Amino acid sequence: MLLAMLIHTIVQLSVTAQQNLTPFGIASQSTVYGGTLSNPNNAILPPISNDFDLNICSHTADGSDPSADWWMFQFSFELAYITDITIYYRTEFAYRMDGFKLYVTNTSAIPPNGYLCYEDSDPGLPNITQNIPCYKSGKYVIYYDTTGDEFFGPVVELCYVAINGCPKGMWGPNCTESCSSICIGKQCYPENGSCIWGCDPQRCVNGRCDTHTGTCIDGCVTGWVGQSCICGKCNMCK
Ligand SMILES: *[C@@H]1O[C@H](CO)[C@@H](O)[C@H](O)[C@H]1NC(C)=O
Ligand SMILES: *[C@@H]1O[C@H](CO)[C@@H](O)[C@H](O)[C@H]1NC(C)=O
Ligand SMILES: *[C@@H]1O[C@H](CO)[C@@H](O)[C@H](O)[C@H]1NC(C)=O
Ligand SMILES: *[C@@H]1O[C@H](CO)[C@@H](O)[C@H](O)[C@H]1NC(C)=O
Repeated sequence: MLLAMLIHTIVQLSVTAQQNLTPFGIASQSTVYGGTLSNPNNAILPPISNDFDLNICSHTADGSDPSADWWMFQFSFELAYITDITIYYRTEFAYRMDGFKLYVTNTSAIPPNGYLCYEDSDPGLPNITQNIPCYKSGKYVIYYDTTGDEFFGPVVELCYVAINGCPKGMWGPNCTESCSSICIGKQCYPENGSCIWGCDPQRCVNGRCDTHTGTCIDGCVTGWVGQSCICGKCNMCK
């Protein structure tokens, strides 16, 4: 049991090592404090720290919308396969981060209409630096706050955000490997290249393919390896 838990932990750690995709897209937010200062894109530019300054962090306008404040990142490519998201919030302002939600979505709709990766729960204040595993594909990442500050209502002050994963069709630590053409839709998991929707049945003996697991039930045809035909590895063993 202990060994199983240790292995599980190691596997989880090895997952959180994909490329930061924030150079490939733009950020926006519900409102901008102080005119052109506190630009939402400050949160995707260095420094990577919790130190606050309007020139280096995002900051929504205080109290201008009592119901919700948000920060949104939109990828410049069609679809990202996200593995995890790291947030650096403003030092000493965890109380404004309290109750935040993090979404991955395919639309820019507010309130967010997509997958809820994480919701800060009570009791206690959140850590201002958080790595949040979120294994999901999408076009947008949204930090959403409906609680926040008792005087000003929701306020978003993000100093740095890293969104790790790979663009659709790519995998590997630096997303430099192409997903194998055997994968349906050429879509594979960013960390290991295995097909997400399974293999093309034409690559499998008798065309028998488990579309959920990507396994060739009767094995692979010549040129592809493994009892279970691990699809992402096929392009390395032509
Ligand atoms: C976004 O669209 C892709 C492709 O249709 C789908 O696989 C994915 O689950 C969607 N993501 C969300 C968060 O709905
Ligand atoms: C904050 O960080 C500490 C230490 O890393 C961890 O034990 C705790 O679970 C974290 N709390 C939250 C709410 O993430
Ligand atoms: C990924 O990129 C980094 C920085 O350029 C480099 O040091 C590393 O060797 C690369 N890793 C792989 C597996 O290509
Ligand atoms: C590849 O990663 C996915 C997502 O974590 C996992 O479900 C799948 O089993 C992995 N494939 C292999 C061959 O390890």
